[in-house]
Amino acid sequence: MTPPVNTTRSPLNATRSNENLLTDNPELYEARFPDADRLAGRWAEDCLRRHDAGARVLDIGCGTGRDAAHLHAAGRTVVAADLSEAMLAYARTHHRGPDYVRADLRDFDLHEDPVDTVVCLDSALLYCHTNAELDGFLASCRRSLTPGGLLVAEMRNGAFFLGRTELLDAPAVNGFTWQGTAYTSTTTLSVDRTAQLLRRTRIWTADDGSPPHEQRSAWRLLFPQELRHVLAAHGFEVLDLHDGPGPRTEPAWQEGAGPGERTDQDRLHLVARLTRHD
Ligand SMILES: C[S@@+](CC[C@H](N)C(=O)[O-])C[C@H]1O[C@@H](n2cnc3c(N)ncnc32)[C@H](O)[C@@H]1O
Repeated sequence: MTPPVNTTRSPLNATRSNENLLTDNPELYEARFPDADRLAGRWAEDCLRRHDAGARVLDIGCGTGRDAAHLHAAGRTVVAADLSEAMLAYARTHHRGPDYVRADLRDFDLHEDPVDTVVCLDSALLYCHTNAELDGFLASCRRSLTPGGLLVAEMRNGAFFLGRTELLDAPAVNGFTWQGTAYTSTTTLSVDRTAQLLRRTRIWTADDGSPPHEQRSAWRLLFPQELRHVLAAHGFEVLDLHDGPGPRTEPAWQEGAGPGERTDQDRLHLVARLTRHD
């Protein structure tokens, strides 16, 4: 039977090819990447407690706002920022508590009181594709932080791809159902060695009759030693840098688990302190 065609409401029809389907449709984002136990927010709060962080937090690249709202519920005063207006609108209504503002993580100045911690989760930092953008991010963090403030980040690990091809060999196919429509994403990753980027092509299909939608994006392939070097250059001391356990590792982080000691697997977890504030 031919599936019904829903040309007005389907997110696939409403999203242009250069746009990000999930970023532009935050409900879909949460359906595709559920975190009902708020593991990422709990892991971030655990990092803050272990390192005696003050109350004020900026969550940059906050997405749907669920981690920011978790930190708010834990008693923090949270400003949360993203580039996507759709994400911010969703966050303001679905994850209330934080103050949501629009900012580009590659160069931001929120003109607010300095915060005690900048949090940047799920590879948002890797949208800094060039060294200049990475410098812009860290200079912005430095401007926004109190002396002794923390940077807590969680992202893919560029070093994982050295000598390993399992994530590159074949497209990854994922499916989920949202509001009665079954969505399938077919994701192909490739390494651009010159730009040091992990490039992603994702083709979306839905059983509501809408045509396939292709989107492209990229993450910086950032290596642990490179990260240490650029952090030191910006006045940060690395307190933790490890591949897990974390909110998106297998097995996942659990309450009470401390940081690991290696940086070999697919994810990197960083806690750094701003020790030079010039
Ligand atoms: C993978 S999502 C992670 C969202 C959230 N941190 C989480 O863990 O659920 C990446 C987010 O970064 C945002 N983003 C991408 N480029 C950005 C930029 N230049 N400045 C600010 N946010 C950006 C996207 O809009 C998206 O919400």
